[in-house]
Formats: sequence, C-alpha cells, structure tokens
Amino acid sequence: MSEPSETAVRLKAEKLDATDELAGLRAQFVLDDTVYLDGNSLGALPRSVPGRVEDVVRRQWGSLRIRSWDESGWWTAPERIGDRIAPLVGAAPGQIVVGDSTSVNVFKAVVGAVRLAAEKGDDEGHAGRPGPGGRDEVLVDATTFPTDGYIAASAARLTGCTLRPVTPDEVPGALSERTAAVLLNHVDYRTGRLHDLPSLTSSIHAVGAVAIWDLCHSAGALPVGLDEHGVDLAVGCTYKYLNGGPGSPAYLYVREALQPRFDSPLPGWNSHADPFGMTPDFTPAPGALRGRVGTPDILSMLALEAALEVWDDVSIDAVRTKSLALTDFFLECVESYVPEGAVESVTPTAHTERGSQVALRCADAGNVMRRLIGRGVVGDFREPDVLRFGFTPLYVGFGDVERAARVLGEMF
Ligand SMILES: Cc1ncc(COP(=O)(O)O)c(C=O)c1O
Repeated sequence: MSEPSETAVRLKAEKLDATDELAGLRAQFVLDDTVYLDGNSLGALPRSVPGRVEDVVRRQWGSLRIRSWDESGWWTAPERIGDRIAPLVGAAPGQIVVGDSTSVNVFKAVVGAVRLAAEKGDDEGHAGRPGPGGRDEVLVDATTFPTDGYIAASAARLTGCTLRPVTPDEVPGALSERTAAVLLNHVDYRTGRLHDLPSLTSSIHAVGAVAIWDLCHSAGALPVGLDEHGVDLAVGCTYKYLNGGPGSPAYLYVREALQPRFDSPLPGWNSHADPFGMTPDFTPAPGALRGRVGTPDILSMLALEAALEVWDDVSIDAVRTKSLALTDFFLECVESYVPEGAVESVTPTAHTERGSQVALRCADAGNVMRRLIGRGVVGDFREPDVLRFGFTPLYVGFGDVERAARVLGEMF
C-alpha cells in the first residue's frame, strides 16, 4: 500500500486540530512559529508568569519586604503549591511539598524509604517487615536518568545497603525479603516507555518493601494515580510538563499513612514542628511538611504557582487522550515522510506503554537534531543516537506534528 500523500496528511492534521478540545490553551503560552517539541525538557513559558514574577519582586519583596512571609503567603507556599500539583498526580491534599531539586528529593525519599522499611509493620497492616538489618538492598532502575542512580548509590552506602540496578522488567524477579526500597521511573527519559506503576507497586508491597516513583516524565502528561495505587513516596520536577521554568523547584510526595514515620535525612528548620522555636532538638513537623528542608526558593516557587494556573479547567484525562493522539499521529507522519530505514522508533507502540514522547534512533543523530533546530523544529538529542520529541498537549497541535515529521523527512 502506498503512503498517504502530503496533502492527505496535512488535511488530517487540520481535521484533528479542528476537533482538538485543548487547542485554545496554546494561547496561554508564549510561543512563536517554531515547532516546540522539547517540553519534556523545559516547558514553554505560560503568559501568566512574567506579570506574577514582577509583582512578587516589585511589590511583595520590594514594598512588603519581610511582611510577605505571612501576608503574601510565602511561608506556606511549599505545601500550598504541593496541593495544587496533587490532583494532577492523583493525590489527596496534604501529601506533597514543593522545594529543592528532584535530585535532593530522591535522596530524601531513598534514605527515608530505607528507614521506613527497617521498621516492623506499617500503619496499614502490611506484614513481613523484619527488624533493622533485615532489609539491606535497594533496587534502582538500571535505565534511569543518571542523577537517580548516583543518588540512590550514595543513599544505599549511607544506610548500609547494597544497590542493585535492575531494569523495571526485572524488578518482580529481583524482589525479596531483603529488599528495602525500589526507585523507579514512571516514564523512561530516553525511550519514552511508560512503566506499569500499579503492578510494580503492588509487587514491591508484596515483599514488604517501599515503592518510590520518579514522575519527572509523567506528571502533567498522563494520570499517575499515586493514592489509588498505594505509592509510598514519589518525586518529580516541575520544569517539564508543568511548565514551572528553568530550575523550578521539585516536589516530594509522602503517602499520608507513612507520614508519622517518615524520617527525613535532611531535617532542616523548615521541617521542624516549631520552626520559630529555635530549639536545639529536632521535632519533625506533622504530615508532609517534614519533607521541607530550608528556606523555600520563593521567586521560582511563585513563578511555578502562576504557571500551574493553566491547569485550572483542564483534566489530566483529556491531556492523556490528546497526548496519545499526538504521538500516534507523529509516528504515522514519520512513516509517511521519512525514508524507510532512516529512523527506528524506540518508543513502544502500545498506548499502555507510551509516555508523551517519541524517541527515534538514527545515524548521526546529534547532527540531525542540530539541523532540525535550524529548520525550526526543536526536539533534543540524547547519547548515543536518540532524537527525542516531547509532546505537551497543552500547546502542541497536530499541524506542528505534521510539520516536524515533514522537516525530519527532509533530513535524509
Ligand atoms: C527522570 C529524571 N529524574 C531527575 C531529573 C533531574 O533532576 P534535577 O531536577 O535534580 O535536575 C531529570 C531531569 O531531566 C529526569 O529526567
């Protein structure tokens, strides 16, 4: 069967754009006529952000100065913004705090998880947690974004555990009564593969271990269901699909039932039950607040808060539906426009296994991406030979997808 003509593909893109319920959201972002497919690395700027940052700097800081810690809600921003992210990842309020980088939150989560696992039983009656010393292994996704692996290795060393890198597929077979904690990525940063969070979490719980998920590549792109699936701890960044801006603060989720026993390895004055008591002894704050550390990075945090307003009337299910339609259409367009054999997709075709990006392997990929960017199609390159294209349903349209694939076809 011959490939559909360029005209047919363009017509299909127009039709899909015409029926796209989320199409109007693009106007809420600062974009130009480049096709921006790198929102899985740095989300685009929401229009609400510059004015908010200006107000925070000029009025809240410039005029109100120290009063803003109370009057502008600076002090409570980490938990308030955590509660704004919560519905996007399927969490009830009171379980997420925003602050620090993902890397730092991975550290809190892995050490905190090993400490939780070392205790007997848990608040929900999960049996089979032996006493201290019984659980001495941390499993980490062997294909992980490197920072998670580096930090898990250090956290394992600090807690006297052995780190075992395994692929997510190997996790069920690697679990045992020795497993303390397992750190996994919901979506793989390189291939865009979506891992089975419900089933892996339940296997991890079956041996009495603690499940930690890195949501960097799924939060804001697809439903996560943290509460529904009983995830113990989760971390994620906010500068990708949540559009918080370069280096915007990350977040830490601690399941409510575990909060009383969550023992952060970074107890700062902000996680103290009485931060202004200035006592020499540490008493952890109740709830998720104990995930805080030091003074929050207010400028970035309030830029993120403004960015999250884009989500006010948006359902994550609608975002997921469009995300899958975008990646399906991209794969279809690549098939039509790119000469056979020039690229190979490493992103699963099954919807149940696909995040919101498509990764294509090709020869000389770094150079191909440079030329693509020169032609106004922005994705990114990951070693050794991967072209990554991220699809942010809030602002990417089907016409963008068609153009990206067409220009890609012209590279070969
Ligand atoms: C899966 C994953 N974890 C962690 C990070 C980075 O963490 P940090 O916010 O500390 O730079 C990234 C960055 O792209 C990532 O993709």
